[in-house]
Amino acid sequence: AMRILTGLQPSGKLHVGNYFGAMEPAVKLQEEGDAFYFIANYHAMTTVRDAAELRAYTRELAVDFLACGLDPERSVFFRQSDVPEVNELAWILSTVCPISLLEKCHSYKDKVAKGFSPSHGLFAYPVLMAADILLYDSNQVPVGKDQKQHLEVTRDLAGKINEAYGEGTLVVPEPIIRESVAVVPGLDGQKMSKSYGNTLPLFGEEKPSKKLIMRIKTDSTPVEEPKPVADSLILPLFRLFADEDAYREMVARHESGGTGYGDFKKQLAEAYWDYFAPMRAKREELVSDPGFVDEVLAKGAEKARAAAAITLDRVRQAVGL
Ligand code: TYM
Repeated sequence: AMRILTGLQPSGKLHVGNYFGAMEPAVKLQEEGDAFYFIANYHAMTTVRDAAELRAYTRELAVDFLACGLDPERSVFFRQSDVPEVNELAWILSTVCPISLLEKCHSYKDKVAKGFSPSHGLFAYPVLMAADILLYDSNQVPVGKDQKQHLEVTRDLAGKINEAYGEGTLVVPEPIIRESVAVVPGLDGQKMSKSYGNTLPLFGEEKPSKKLIMRIKTDSTPVEEPKPVADSLILPLFRLFADEDAYREMVARHESGGTGYGDFKKQLAEAYWDYFAPMRAKREELVSDPGFVDEVLAKGAEKARAAAAITLDRVRQAVGL
């Protein structure tokens, strides 16, 4: 059977980029195979240095992912740290991982440039991520484009293990990056990212979230004149929340002139708010039933450990442990 896996870091509030880049494809793929979805709390430790905060973000991410349609009856949903075996595989991978491979990783360089401490954990982040993927014999990994390089590292490391210890020791996975949402733009046109402070929250409060949209930068084209479509920051976001017809109409109203940017932003704010309404309602239910979430994660941990044991036994055998 096809195995699908993805993880998200509990390092802050989820945003619309996380949703379209990873969560929505993950939820859709649940129907096509065995899905393993997890909360990457070991990874989040590279940037979150407060125990209470890490716990709170972890909890929130669990609720958010379930609200977005992760079906715990169908998929295995777990906390990364509930399967500590992943660290053993990470170690094994690290013994075949050239330092130069990690030195090339953009995300390490970006984070250090942003002031995060250049710890060994941050440097070795891609090795642990490779272990996450390989531990479950994953075939397909839905992620945003910013993770493409990490998936290449994963494929590389799996290849090196197979070369050294025999083909079939590890399954070499395929990334799934949907071009249309590979990079969801933020409110300033750069990639939407927590570290750029340009995010639209997935589950924010209504007024502050809509206010963020009203502050999107626009040029000074007068109301009556046609608005440039190509460099609009409004249209690519609107496209995520609107159906084809509504999107085409919005483009036409840009081209015809006669409507101000304020009106477009209001329409975007409404579309955004309505799009997530059903998930918001589900989220309210989940928040009021913490026992259910605990139970999902406990069951998920058990299933994940069972699957991990199969791969790890095979790998230990192959490498001579
Ligand atoms: P994280 O939490 O930083 O990001 C979670 C997912 O959101 C995607 N994403 C975006 N997609 C499109 N447009 C954007 N603006 C945008 N911003 C974020 C990311 O690409 C990612 O898919 N390293 C992973 C966590 C992880 C993981 C794994 C993923 C740990 N182990 C194993 C897959 C498999 C990460 O960056 O998470």
